[in-house]
Amino acid sequence: MRKKIVAGNWKMNLDYNEGLALFSEIINMVNDEITGTQQAVICSPFIHIHSLVQLAKGYHKVAVGAQNAHQAESGAYTGEISAKMIKSTGAAYVILGHSERRQYFGETNALLAQKTDTVLKHDLTPIFCIGETLQEREAETHFDVIKTQLVEGIFHLSAEDFGKLVIAYEPVWAIGTGVTATSAQAQEIHDFIRKEIAAKYNQAVADATTILYGGSCNPKNAAELFAQADIDGGLIGGASLKSRDFLDIVKTFN
Ligand code: PGA
Repeated sequence: MRKKIVAGNWKMNLDYNEGLALFSEIINMVNDEITGTQQAVICSPFIHIHSLVQLAKGYHKVAVGAQNAHQAESGAYTGEISAKMIKSTGAAYVILGHSERRQYFGETNALLAQKTDTVLKHDLTPIFCIGETLQEREAETHFDVIKTQLVEGIFHLSAEDFGKLVIAYEPVWAIGTGVTATSAQAQEIHDFIRKEIAAKYNQAVADATTILYGGSCNPKNAAELFAQADIDGGLIGGASLKSRDFLDIVKTFN
């Protein structure tokens, strides 16, 4: 059985106190309401991470993650955060290659391949994001785009290392827009991704890979999306900033 994961991506929202307050609500609600084996993850800004990990102690259904990590081990990279630093807080996950990082910070597949190696070296789980833009979908190049992101970003990994990562398919046109991919559109790409993994590695690796959907996922559409054969959970932006909405999405797997 693949691991089911619902990960919140807070992006650059919530000051320190607001973040702790929201996280406290979330862990209490998860404790009270989650009966399944799904994993809830909150990927917060760096400043919250250590405190969230402390709050989450004893609540194994909630894990904490970062939204980025630098590719280098350490050094003169003013303002950056290393994977080792993230690991030392007790965080477990790191989002890599989110489309906002690709778009606004120029992160390429080649750079993301390096980041993936560094994050895995420090025993953190990458949530590796891929997805096409609206123009790419309209030009019907979306399958090629996804394949290139896989090949250049993560297909250099050994099968063993590949087995440690989580993939998130996030069509850029669905992120923060209120326009969700239909469950059929999402399933089509998830199925494609799994087949590419099977072709590169083998069916067992493909069957074991958790593939999340992200992009305007909310409590209303989560059930239909997560019911698809190859959708193993979600990466949730806006709706993860409201405890009730986030919990209702996590509860889809109860
Ligand atoms: P959204 O963001 O849920 O607000 O569309 C998803 C994401 O960017 O991960």
